[in-house]
Amino acid sequence: MEDIVKKTIEFVKQKLENAEAGHDWFHIERVYKTAVNINKIEKGDDLVIALAALLHDIADPKFNNGDEEIGPAISEQFLLSVFVDKETIAHVKSIIQNMSFKNSFDGAGFTSKEMQIVQDADRLDAIGAIGIARAFTYGGFKNRVLYDPAIRPEQHITKESYKNTSAPTINHFYEKLLLLKDMMNTEAGKSIALERHHFMIQYLDHFYKEWEGN
Ligand code: ADP
Ligand code: NI
Repeated sequence: MEDIVKKTIEFVKQKLENAEAGHDWFHIERVYKTAVNINKIEKGDDLVIALAALLHDIADPKFNNGDEEIGPAISEQFLLSVFVDKETIAHVKSIIQNMSFKNSFDGAGFTSKEMQIVQDADRLDAIGAIGIARAFTYGGFKNRVLYDPAIRPEQHITKESYKNTSAPTINHFYEKLLLLKDMMNTEAGKSIALERHHFMIQYLDHFYKEWEGN
């Protein structure tokens, strides 16, 4: 197990060498650590959780012409090369195929305890102090304004509106980040999410005060 995880870490680090800040190796490392922490309470399969956390963003469809199959295919090929058993490979593949926020619009697909843990860890990285930093990094990358009081957030976010390319970054809080606390799967995930949620509420409060010059 240790050896396979080590090799996977090396593989992922090298693959993500040129990734942008929101999805770089450090994102993977945080998700991996958080998933391991949640699993101390949840007691799922350690190897499946480690591999799925490490491989979940190996080829983001956003940067691969929308191709959703590249990531799972690269993962499978790699896991076969380090002699992981077929059952574990199939499980890891199902997790990374189904866990993204975008895919959650298509209704529940595959699920398992391990899937729920890794998904919680990934979602937790989108909220709190780090989540705020990632949102503004993404907004900057897309050349979005920080905030525009005239552009209200979408009330009902859909797969289409989520792709809207011109909305201010602050709107993303209402369209995704503040919704995540109610989307957590595990009890441990929920309690971490609540703390991070409160921090974001405080952050927004300060943001609007400062916007008005106060
Ligand atoms: P996932 O990989 O979980 O499906 P994304 O790739 O859409 O999610 O998001 C990666 C990071 O970029 C997250 O921290 C997310 O909040 C942020 N992000 C995604 N869309 C936006 C947006 N429209 N504005 C600001 N941040 C965004
Ligand atoms: Ni991720």
